Amino acid sequence: MIDDTQPLLQVEQVRKLFPLKTAGSLVPLRAARRTALLHAVDGVDLSIGRGESVGLVGESGCGKSTLVRLITRTLDPTEGSIRFRGEDIGGIPASRFARVPQRKLIQMVFQDPTDSLNPRYTARDTIAEPLRLLGNLSGTALSDRIEAIAALVQMPRELLGRFPHQLSGGQKARVGIARAVALEPSLLILDEPTAALDVSVQAVILHLLADLREKLGMSYLFVSHDLNIVRLLCDRVMVMYLGRIVESGPARQVFEAPRHPYTRALLSAIPGLGGEASRRIRLEGDPTSPVDPDPGRCRFHGRCPKGQDACTRSSPSLVQMAPGHAVACHFPESA
Ligand SMILES: Nc1ncnc2c1ncn2[C@@H]1O[C@H](COP(=O)(O)OP(=O)(O)O)[C@@H](O)[C@H]1O
Ligand code: SF4
Ligand SMILES: [Mg+2]
Repeated sequence: MIDDTQPLLQVEQVRKLFPLKTAGSLVPLRAARRTALLHAVDGVDLSIGRGESVGLVGESGCGKSTLVRLITRTLDPTEGSIRFRGEDIGGIPASRFARVPQRKLIQMVFQDPTDSLNPRYTARDTIAEPLRLLGNLSGTALSDRIEAIAALVQMPRELLGRFPHQLSGGQKARVGIARAVALEPSLLILDEPTAALDVSVQAVILHLLADLREKLGMSYLFVSHDLNIVRLLCDRVMVMYLGRIVESGPARQVFEAPRHPYTRALLSAIPGLGGEASRRIRLEGDPTSPVDPDPGRCRFHGRCPKGQDACTRSSPSLVQMAPGHAVACHFPESA
C-alpha cells in the first residue's frame, strides 16, 4: 500500500555480498574450499524525503554504484529492506521489477551519456522510448510530449533528429536527462552524471539539474566522488567508505564541520574550503580489501591519521552527534 506519510525512499540495513570463488587447487579437499565474500554494500541505512536532494560520496570502489543498483532493483540485496513510498520493493526480484508500477517513478541518469545512449536511436527515439513503453503515449500526444521535454532540458528542437555521434557531450547529457525525466519520476538517481564532461559543460548541466528539481519537485540521490558537486546540489550528504556510511548529515554541517577523519581527508583535497580542513590530509596506506573484511576493527584503520589500538578492537557504528548528523568513529572530531 502506498503511504504518503513515509519517506519517499527508505533503505534499512541493506547488504550486497558478492561471492568470489577462491581456488582450492593446492588443497584438493572439499573442506578446504571456501567462498570468499566481497562486501560491496555492508549494512547501509538511507532515507530520502520528498523533494529532498541527498548526496552520496566516496572514492571509487566504495560501493556507491552497487547501492544504486540495489535501489533501482537491477541487483537483488543479500539482506535488508528497501521501501519506496512505504511499499516494500526490496523483495521484488530484480528480474520482475521492470514490470511493476513503481518502476517509472524511479529513474536514472548514467555516468557516460555515450555509453548509455543507443547509437542507432535519434534523440527523439531515445526520449520516446519510455513514453511509449511505460507512459502509453503515441501519435501527436507523443510528439507533443517529446517537444515539451526537449524544451524543459533546454535542447533545441532541431537536435531531436540527431544520432548520438552527431551530438556534443553536453547535448548527449541533455538527452540522457530528458529520457530520465520524461515520465516525471519522484526519485531521480544520478550516478556521477557529469564525470564524463568537460568542466565548463559540467557547470551548465549541474545548473540544469538544479533547475529541473525545482520545476518538477523530484527527489535526487546524487552520487559522486566529487564533493564540490554535491555541495552545490544537495541538502544532505552521506559519506561512504568500503561499503559503509561513515558520516551523514545536513550538507552544510558536514562540509563546515566534518566529524569523521575520512570526510576531513576528502574535504581537505578541495581547494578553498575554510578552517582546519583546508590543510591537505594525505591518506597513507591502501584501502582495506572489501573481501572478507575483519568485522572486529574499523575499516579505515591503516589509513586513518587518528587511528589507535582501540580502532583495531571493534568496528565503530554510526552514532548521532547532533540532530541528523551521525558519525561512525571511536574518536570523532569535535564540532
Ligand atoms: N558484479 C560484481 N561482482 C563482484 N564484485 C563486484 C560487482 N560489482 C561491483 N563489485 C565490487 O564491489 C565494490 C564496489 O563497487 P562499486 O559499487 O562499483 O563502487 P563505486 O561505484 O563506489 O566505484 C568494488 O570492490 C567492486 O569491484
Ligand atoms: S575509529 Fe579509529 S581508525 Fe576508524 S576512523 Fe575513527 S579514529 Fe580512525
Ligand atoms: Mg560507480
